[in-house]
Order: sequence, then structure tokens, then C-alpha cells
Amino acid sequence: MEILIAPSILSADFTQLGSQLRACQEAGADMIHIDVMDGRFVPNITFGPDIVKACKRVSDLPLDVHLMIVEPEKHLKSFIEAGSDIVTVHFETCPHIHRTLQTIREMGAKAGLTFNPGTPVDGLNYLTDLVDQVLIMSVNPGFGGQKFIPSALEKIDLVRWILDENDSEAIIQVDGGISPDTIQAVYQAGASNFVAGTAIFGHPDGIGAGIRSLREALL
Ligand code: DX5
Ligand code: ZN
Repeated sequence: MEILIAPSILSADFTQLGSQLRACQEAGADMIHIDVMDGRFVPNITFGPDIVKACKRVSDLPLDVHLMIVEPEKHLKSFIEAGSDIVTVHFETCPHIHRTLQTIREMGAKAGLTFNPGTPVDGLNYLTDLVDQVLIMSVNPGFGGQKFIPSALEKIDLVRWILDENDSEAIIQVDGGISPDTIQAVYQAGASNFVAGTAIFGHPDGIGAGIRSLREALL
């Protein structure tokens, strides 16, 4: 499985966003992860479509937009028009998830589906043909810098099984507490796309060193 590293700009220095995004690209990041929070589904408030637009102007990397918002279907158009390449919605926020995933693809983006740490993944059995990416949350969403929740590992293993059983090519992404200490176990469980905020933007030797330290931990 190709290893994909997705720096989460939640932990970026917002006064230096342009240069930090360029540093991510130079250091071989595979996409940019943008955490959209609404203060309702999650306690924190972060970015809207204008930030996605700004990222698009300074980076050629795919923009991976994680919508932690209620009623995401109301905002798909504006986030996709702003330049989102992948849009991930939460299973918990979508009563009509089948339709929402279809709509994301119809609007021209890749469709991601995510599950909180306490949410069972059984629903995925009915959705495998509609998803390009399954995101397993390994923290309760809302903040960067939280501790990895180990039960995510058995969930990744189960998702790997569901995807393989259904001949799905969808990628498994993991978000929360990814560091050189946790990434190997997550990879072994079957994930290949790693979101990391603190481990990359908070690395004492800089963004490049942060990305390298994650890749080296997988060697
Ligand atoms: C959590 C966000 C994450 C967060 C990860 O709500 O979805 O993307 O930025 O941050 P770290 O890597 O610091 O756990
Ligand atoms: Zn995220």
C-alpha cells in the first residue's frame, strides 16, 4: 500500500500558512488535511471555504477537507467550489449518508466517510461502492494534540476486512495522535493514509523533519 502523509493545518502557524504549505509540499507531503469545525458537532470552530480557496492558491497538493459540522450537505457545494479535492463527512452527522456520499462525487470531489471513536462501522457494509476514503478517528474530534485511542486499531482491522470483502479500492485514513510512536501499529492494522498535525507542525526541527520522522518510523 502506498503510504500517504496528510499534514493537518490545524496545527500550522496561521501567520505563515503560505510558506508552511510550501514546506509541506517540498518535504513530500501527499495532500493537505483541512479540519473544518463548527462549534456544534465539535466544540471548536476553525475554517470555512475561504481558507480552502487560499490553500488552493498556494499549493498544488490535493486538499483533503474533513467536515466536522452538522448538516454538511448544506455546505458541500461551497467547499467543493473552493477547491476541495476530497470531502470527508461524519457518519454521525448524516441521516442520509448514502445520498450525501453520492452528491460529493456528483459534484466532482472524492468522497470520504469517517467514524468517531465510539461509532460502530457496520454501516460501511452498505456504502463501499460510494467511498474513496474511509477515515477512522483515533481521537474524539475537535482539537489537535490529543492522545491516540488504541481501540482504533481493531476498528481499522475490521474496516480493512470490509473493504477487501467488497473488492473496494478505498483508502483507509487515520486521524488523531499519529506520531512516530503510533504510526507503525496503525499501518500494520491496514491503514495507509496518515493525518498528522502536532507531529509535523510541532516538530522541533521543522515541518520537513516531522514528515521524515513519520516515514522513517515505517521503515
Ligand atoms: C482532530 C482533527 C485532526 C487533528 C490531528 O479533530 O481532525 O486532524 O488536527 O491532530 P494531531 O495530529 O495533533 O492529533
Ligand atoms: Zn481531521
